[in-house]
Amino acid sequence: MPACQAMETLNTTGSAPLCENEHLRRWVEKTAELTKPAAIHWVDGSQEEYDLLCAQMVASGTLIKLNQDLWPGCYYARSDADDVARVEDRTFICSLSKEEAGPTNNWENPFSMHKKLKALFSGCMRGRTLYVLPFSMGPVGSPMSQIGVQLTDSPYVVVNMRIMARIGLPVFQEIDKGEKRVVPCIHSVGRPLARGQKDVPWPCNKEKYIVHFPETREIWSYGSGYGGNALLGKKCFALRIASNIARDEGWMAEHMLIVGIENPEGEKTYVAAAFPSACGKTNFAMMIPPKGFEGWKVWTVGDDIAWIRPDQHGRLRAINPEAGFFGVAPGTSAKTNPNAMATLARNTIFTNVALTPEGGVWWEGMTDEPPAECLDWQGNRWTPEIAKQTGAKAAHPNARFTAPASQCPTIDPAWEDPDGVPISALLFGGRRAAMMPLVYEAFNWSAGVYIGATMGSEMTAAANGNVGKVRRDPMAMLPFCGYHMGNYFRHWLRMQHSLSEVPRIFHVNWFRKGDNGEFLWPGFGENMRVLKWIIDRVHGRARAKETPIGWIPQYGDMDWNCLEYPKERFDRLQAIDRTAWRAEVIGHEELLIDLHDHLPQEMIYQRELLICRL
Ligand code: GTP
Ligand code: SPV
Ligand code: MN
Repeated sequence: MPACQAMETLNTTGSAPLCENEHLRRWVEKTAELTKPAAIHWVDGSQEEYDLLCAQMVASGTLIKLNQDLWPGCYYARSDADDVARVEDRTFICSLSKEEAGPTNNWENPFSMHKKLKALFSGCMRGRTLYVLPFSMGPVGSPMSQIGVQLTDSPYVVVNMRIMARIGLPVFQEIDKGEKRVVPCIHSVGRPLARGQKDVPWPCNKEKYIVHFPETREIWSYGSGYGGNALLGKKCFALRIASNIARDEGWMAEHMLIVGIENPEGEKTYVAAAFPSACGKTNFAMMIPPKGFEGWKVWTVGDDIAWIRPDQHGRLRAINPEAGFFGVAPGTSAKTNPNAMATLARNTIFTNVALTPEGGVWWEGMTDEPPAECLDWQGNRWTPEIAKQTGAKAAHPNARFTAPASQCPTIDPAWEDPDGVPISALLFGGRRAAMMPLVYEAFNWSAGVYIGATMGSEMTAAANGNVGKVRRDPMAMLPFCGYHMGNYFRHWLRMQHSLSEVPRIFHVNWFRKGDNGEFLWPGFGENMRVLKWIIDRVHGRARAKETPIGWIPQYGDMDWNCLEYPKERFDRLQAIDRTAWRAEVIGHEELLIDLHDHLPQEMIYQRELLICRL
């Protein structure tokens, strides 16, 4: 059904919904009664509907259509200057007890939070359209997929979700089957319009609430239209709610990319890797093997989230619950990530990058030579000269592209396999300027869980906060684990018992710096050398040296074909300074003390072992 036919005034709500499900219809009606939208639109997910919504947003000033000769199918959005990243201090896990949410999450009593939200949402969609947006995280119909419905007053969210998830009619049909529980998600930008009031290009509210109710599996989001705050299938559902479902059902919802590495003999090995926000997942997921690795292929399955589950043979299998990439633009270039550049060349929505006079986009690091002139992410004139004088960035550091995964040149042929891909190794990695070696391997699963649990990383622009400060970010899940972090570690430890083949666990760090502040490791495609060692370890083909923290490759264990990388530099990169490591372990303690009440014994035990070895 064309979108315009599905559009209707509120008085006729329910006359033409695209779903038979009584429960869903009643919930939509109830929400409309609360939020008072001017119209309700049941999202069918068609191209016509997408085009129509984009055209409406171009007319209203929310989107700019880019030069279609340069950027076919692409649009450009500028957010409000106060709505540019996830707001972790406004994110809540409202489980019945505070204990359940744990000390790393903001908590409020679910009953008082519900009351607060009801008040906030009362009349909040006035003058806007309420979109009924059904979505499937994971391929529609896969046994590993989950379904949600987002009620939102943001057409920007609808068009982004069409790229990031499977949406529309096929999902309504899934819901009509009644086999799967549906996660209700309510979202409003929190800016009702009075009769005749002109809208702003990026409506939002200074007051923001990103709220999760784990027991009832509900999500309420208010006040933001940006990224993980508003595209509720992503961090809110696929991590915070899904981590709860996964714990209950014996699987794992992780902030991990998934890649398949094919060697020249055609052997394919899949690994999943958890790096904190803006620490290199998208880059790693689309890696191009460097010179010297002819015949090797890296296949992309996912760049941000992995749902991982033991199959009937006790082997971990993973799906990417998403259908698109919501990637960091700055730093993305034909040199650093040509696959991302090819993926975002068409049918992409850019948010908070710079706009060039030709109707194209630009961001820091995209080209060596900046454009002579452009409009920055806030619409102000920007030139390299102005940047030199004021330090102004053309693109916001957390500017992002929303691009379909199917357009990625290296998308894995099995990326939509309903049963997922088999996982042979798990990687953890943070952004650490000092002390942390390029790569090391955990002695065993428990030691690996300890390594992931105590992972530290310098904060980035992906969330509002102190950029650059090292914080503990267990398994890159600090902002995303929907329950007590201590119980999450317990769940990780317990997973081992349902596995017949236990994946090996590694820690990597692309960001170690030398005395002059320069990166010691070239990173990006050269990370393939590390990946090759990891894969060879998995298959029992590579050597390693035992150290107090785990097994590390020595210079001769790495493949240096076509790269001049001095042994002395590598030794500095891999150096394990016992004094610095003892201080690091004291840093672990802070986190462990916080989680003390629910910390599994094995974690204490692993810590003692590490201290003894140091
Ligand atoms: P989220 O989408 O926030 O979860 O981020 P992400 O983990 O996907 O990070 P992404 O791949 O977008 O990388 C973020 C930043 O890290 C970019 O500025 C990259 O240029 C930089 N980066 C990625 N890989 C490397 C690397 O190997 N070495 C160095 N030095 N920088 C890297
Ligand atoms: C992250 O911050 O880890 C992201 C971007 O992937 S967002 O969708 O905004 O969470
Ligand atoms: Mn992420």
